[in-house]
Amino acid sequence: MHSTQSNPLPILRIDGLTKDFRGLRALTKVELIVHEREILGVIGPNGAGKTTLFNLITGLIHPTQGKILFLDHDITFKEPDYVTKLGIGRTFQNIRLFNAMTVLDNVRVAMQLHMPINPFTIFLSSPSFLDKENQLEKRAIRLLTLFGLENFRNQEAGNLPYAHQRRLEIARALALQPKLLLLDEPTAGMNPSETQELLQLILRLHEEYHLTIILIAHDMRFVMNLCQRVQVLNQGETIAVGSPDEVRSLPQVIEAYLGRSAHA
Ligand SMILES: Nc1ncnc2c1ncn2[C@@H]1O[C@H](COP(=O)(O)OP(=O)(O)OP(=O)(O)O)[C@@H](O)[C@H]1O
Ligand SMILES: [Mg+2]
Repeated sequence: MHSTQSNPLPILRIDGLTKDFRGLRALTKVELIVHEREILGVIGPNGAGKTTLFNLITGLIHPTQGKILFLDHDITFKEPDYVTKLGIGRTFQNIRLFNAMTVLDNVRVAMQLHMPINPFTIFLSSPSFLDKENQLEKRAIRLLTLFGLENFRNQEAGNLPYAHQRRLEIARALALQPKLLLLDEPTAGMNPSETQELLQLILRLHEEYHLTIILIAHDMRFVMNLCQRVQVLNQGETIAVGSPDEVRSLPQVIEAYLGRSAHA
C-alpha cells in the first residue's frame, strides 16, 4: 500500500448523505472522510444529526440519498450485522447493555459473534469447543482488565456504576475487534475525573488496537484533547471541518452553539 504520513488511506468515505424522516430532513448532503488511525470528532448542537450519522453508518437506518464506503465495501444499504462483521463497532448515546447478564458475559457474547461455534461441538463438549471457550474467556478478561472492570466481572451489568457501564459498552464494542470504532457521547453523565480517565483510556486503545475512531462529544475540552480533526454539523449540514483550534473560533460554529443555547 502506498500510504504515507501525509496521505493516509481513507477507511470511511461518505458522499452526499441525506436522510429524511417523514417531513424532517435530518441530514443534508453530508460529506465525510476518516483516514486510517485518525480520531475524528463530530460535534454540533442537539438535533444536528450526529447520532443519525452513526445510525446510517452502522446500517440501523438507511439513507434517502448518498453513499457510504468502508474500505473497499459499499455499505450504504447493508444491515447492522453485516457492518459489524466487516469491522465497524459502536457504542450508543443511551447505554445498551444486557443488564441482567454479568459483565463478563456481556463481552463474551459480543466476542462469539466473531468466533462462530459449531453447534455439534457444543453438544459434544468436545475439546475444541472447551478450548475455544477458554480462549474466549481469557480474551474477555484481558479486555475487562484494560478497562479496569475485571473485579466486576461476575456482577450484573445493570448494577454497575454509571461510568463503569459506559466503559463496559466500549469494551463490548471492542470485543469484535473493529477497525473503526464509533463512540456516541462516551462521556455523557461522567464527572471530570471519570472523563479524564476515559480520555486516557481511549488514547491507549487507539494505540494498542490501531483503531480509527469517530467520536461524538459535547465536551469541547475532551474533543480538543483527543481529535486531530473535527467536523461540525448544524441542522443536518456540515458547517465546518478542520483542526479543533481552527474550528472552534469560526463565527458560524460559535453562532450555531450560542444561537441554540440562547433559545434552549
Ligand atoms: N428515528 C427517527 N425518526 C424521526 N426523527 C428522527 C429519528 N432519529 C432522529 N430524528 C430526528 O433527526 C434530527 C437529528 O437527530 P439526532 O439524534 O441525529 O441528533 P444529534 O445531533 O445526535 O442530537 P443530540 O446531541 O441531542 O444527541 C432530530 O430532529 C431528531 O428528532
Ligand atoms: Mg445524538
